Amino acid sequence: MARMKKRLEQVFDFGISLGLAGGSPACAAGGEELFTKHCALCHSKDGKAQSPAARKLGVKDLSISKLADGEIEKQVKEGKKDDKGHQKMPPFKDKFSADEIKSLIVVVKSFRK
Ligand code: HEC
Repeated sequence: MARMKKRLEQVFDFGISLGLAGGSPACAAGGEELFTKHCALCHSKDGKAQSPAARKLGVKDLSISKLADGEIEKQVKEGKKDDKGHQKMPPFKDKFSADEIKSLIVVVKSFRK
């Protein structure tokens, strides 16, 4: 996992810096920063995860996600494993407070049209 993460970091660095330059002021305070730091690595700054590496990993495009708040919360807390039990998205329940998860839910939904 660590090695894959390293590679993803390299792949996504470029995208993240591009995204930051654009900026979007509409998001909840803190949430956007958390997303950039912990999620954009896979989901990209705009949530669409359109890079080849993200597609290969099976990262979902958050702009077309229809998950309800509770389901987003669960996904962020528990992460997601594939059918073989490999971790696709890491669990974040030990990383974020309830408030931080709430602000992340706002950011996740802000990618929707
Ligand atoms: C290591 C890469 C990785 C990181 C980091 C990551 N995700 Fe994910 N995320 C994924 C993958 C892969 C999926 C698709 C999993 C599946 O098959 O349902 C996913 C799916 C999701 C979904 C579900 C979308 C849907 O409609 O099913 C949400 C919501 C989500 N991620 C939010 C986040 C948030 C918020 C963060 C940061 C706290 C984050 N992710 C960090 C890889 C990642």
